[in-house]
This record gives sequence, C-alpha cells and structure tokens, in this order.
Amino acid sequence: MSLRVLTGIKPTGVPHLGNYVGAIRPAVAAASAAGTESFFFLADYHALISTQDPLRVQRSTLEIAASWIACGLDPDTVAFYRQSDVPETTELTWLLTCVAGKGLLNRAHAYKAAVDRNRAEGVDDDAGVTAGLYMYPVLMAADILLFNAHRVPVGRDQVQHIEMARDFAQRFNHIYGEHFTLPEALVEEQVATLPGLDGRKMSKSYDNVIPLFAPRDELRRLVFSIVTDSRAPGEPKETAGSALFQLYQAFADRDEAEAMRAAFAGGIAWGEAKARLFERIDAELAPLRERYQALVADPAGLERLLRRGGERLRDEQARPFLARLRDAVGLRDLSLATRVEAGVADASKPALPVFKQYREADGRFHFKLVDGDRLLLQGDGFASPRDAGRIVGLLKSGAAAPRVDANRRMWLDDAAVGAVAEGVDVDDVLGALERFAGEGG
Ligand code: TRP
Repeated sequence: MSLRVLTGIKPTGVPHLGNYVGAIRPAVAAASAAGTESFFFLADYHALISTQDPLRVQRSTLEIAASWIACGLDPDTVAFYRQSDVPETTELTWLLTCVAGKGLLNRAHAYKAAVDRNRAEGVDDDAGVTAGLYMYPVLMAADILLFNAHRVPVGRDQVQHIEMARDFAQRFNHIYGEHFTLPEALVEEQVATLPGLDGRKMSKSYDNVIPLFAPRDELRRLVFSIVTDSRAPGEPKETAGSALFQLYQAFADRDEAEAMRAAFAGGIAWGEAKARLFERIDAELAPLRERYQALVADPAGLERLLRRGGERLRDEQARPFLARLRDAVGLRDLSLATRVEAGVADASKPALPVFKQYREADGRFHFKLVDGDRLLLQGDGFASPRDAGRIVGLLKSGAAAPRVDANRRMWLDDAAVGAVAEGVDVDDVLGALERFAGEGG
C-alpha cells in the first residue's frame, strides 16, 4: 500500500509569499512524489471555530481553493476536497470524542493559551471559550483517521494535535479492535521562512506581507518598499541578513542566486537589485496569478470540482469505513444482534478440543480427543458406535469422574476407556474435559 499523506488547510484569507514558499510550493511538489497518495482539504469546519462571519468563510474557502489549484495542485491526481463535503468527519468526531480523555484536551496548547489569557485578565478560565475550540483536536483527529493517513505534514505548532490523534486512535483500537492507522507528524525542518517587507518573518500579524496574487503593479510597489540599508550604488553590499537577497534566493535557481551574490559584491544599486527581484518573482507568479483570476471568476466550476472530490471520497472510503466503525462500537442492525453476540462470545475464548468418532480397520468403533491437530486422548475400540458415543457423552458431561492411572490409562468407574496420548500432560487432558462440562457439553 502506498504512503498516505494528508493535510488540512484552514481557509483564512489569501496566502502571501511566505505561505507560498514555506508551505504551498513544497506541498504541491511533494504531492506528485511516486508511491504517495495525497489528501488536501479545506478545513472549513475548523474555520467556524475562529470566525462566525459566514461570508468570510465562503469567500476564504473559494480563495484558498483557487490558490492551491493555481499553484499547481492537480485535483486529478490528488484528493482535493472540502472538509464539510465529507460529513462522516463529524460522525467520526463523535466516536472519537467518546474515547478522548478530557484531561488530554485540557492540555491542548490553543485551549491552554485561551485559559491563560483569561486568567491574566482576571476573568473566568473559560470565558469566551467555545466547546468548538476545546474540541479542535478531536475534529482534526477525525480528519486524519477517517482516511487512515500515515503522514501529516504540519507546522511545529500542530505537532501536539497529531500526538493527540494517535492517542485517540490507540484508545479506540484498544477497545474496539484495530481500525485506525497511527499517524505521524511530518515537520519540514528546513522550510524557508521568508522575510517580510521589514526584514522580520513575513507574517500577517506583522503587517509586512506580499500577497501571493498581488497584481503586477502592486507587486512592484511592494518589492520596492522592502527595507535596505543606506549603501550607495557602487558600494559592495552584504547578502547575509539582506531580506532582499533572501527573497531573491527563494525564487532563483543556483546560478541566478550566484549571479546576484556577485552583483551585491560588485556594488549593485538597491533600485536595480529590487527591479531584478521584482522581475524574478513576477516571472514565476504571473502564470499562477492568471490561473488564480480565472478560477476565482468561475466559482461554480470550483464548486463542482470540490464536490466531485468529496463525493468520490465518501463513496469509496468514508461511508464504508464509517459503516465498519458503527458496527464496531455497537451501532448495529438489531436483527443481527444475537448472531453477532454469539460470534463475539466464541471468539473471546479459545476453541474447545473436539471428540472424533470413527471405525478402525479392526471393525471396532473408536474415539479420540483432539485439540487442533494435537491428539490428547486415544479412546479404546468399542463393539458399537453407540457404546463409543456413550463413553464420549460421559466424558463430556462431567458427570463421571475420569481417573488416569500410572500407565496413563483413563478409567471411568471400573472400566478403562482409553489412553492419554504420548507426550501429553495428564492435567491437560483432564482440564480439557472439565471445560466441556463448563460449556454444558
Ligand atoms: N489545524 C491545522 C492548522 O491550523 C489545519 C488542519 C485541520 C489540519 N485539520 C487537519 C492539518 C488535519 C493537518 C491534518 O494548520
């Protein structure tokens, strides 16, 4: 079976260059690796935890879906879907909720941070905390376990959630049998963190981002606003610590980066360096931007594409898997109840040894007691099958107390009926007979 890689994308706003270089571009490249089966989804159920603005949820979902496809995600080779199009996710969330330890959820970083903020403000621990925020890790575990993903590429801040998914999966498997694969977080150690306009990490919270699909003019304006030092044209410039150089490197190949390094050493003017950076970024992004605009302009097309992806996954995987899980936990067709119960009772105990009756070449009727293919007791020959059957019945009933003598002969009252097989412990044979009595024959 191929390696299943799954990751969720929270639809919040349009991505910026930092998201593109650090997450989208590497993920799209990894998705086409041989031997992997990739799942990418828009985590719109999760979005409801952070926003209660319906238009924003809808708009973000559209923009993020369009962004990923514009960046080369191929919905024909990758499972690309919207979380809420696979509602089995929520049913699985409940099944997992019922095995999830509340104490473990108390320790989730996001929840704890909310509690800490409340304490700092001197209000109730749970003020303003929805049960949705609290349950975030369980919903996320359902995303992952529903498709039995092996690897989950995430940022460092999400590793705890993957650990929790493993914990819930383990508990469920322990109680109900092996149903879930235990997922592993895949943290890309050397993803480039891109500097923003001010040289700090590019991040919405620093207000220093370059939107991925900024129009060409806007992109030029933003690139020209990147902070540089005051070195004049002709003065050699440092590449180390230069946001401009780092940005260039994130888009350039090795030769281009070397050429820029030489230009820095040779005293290129900042204006000229910015112009080169702008052209280099635009060369990569222009075709993506065009695709993005076309996708956003056709929301119905995207809607169809997402629905198709979701429906296929439901039919082929989510529905049948949930049917199995429902059965495992006892949400079952009542008419099957007794049969299933009996099956469970039998499976929980080792199979009983069996008596076999047969006629030998000497014309007499024999029996033997076997456990699997191991002979425990070899019965003597009897004149009729009824005689042999009577002895077997007595041995099974527990009504007669069999004895074994020093020669390993078995007796019922004063009649010898057979011999303990060679190499078999006498107690094993007597123990097996007792189990017959216990089972009621
Ligand atoms: N919690 C993730 C984030 O904020 C998004 C997400 C939701 C996710 N479900 C997931 C990621 C399942 C990986 C697997 O980035």
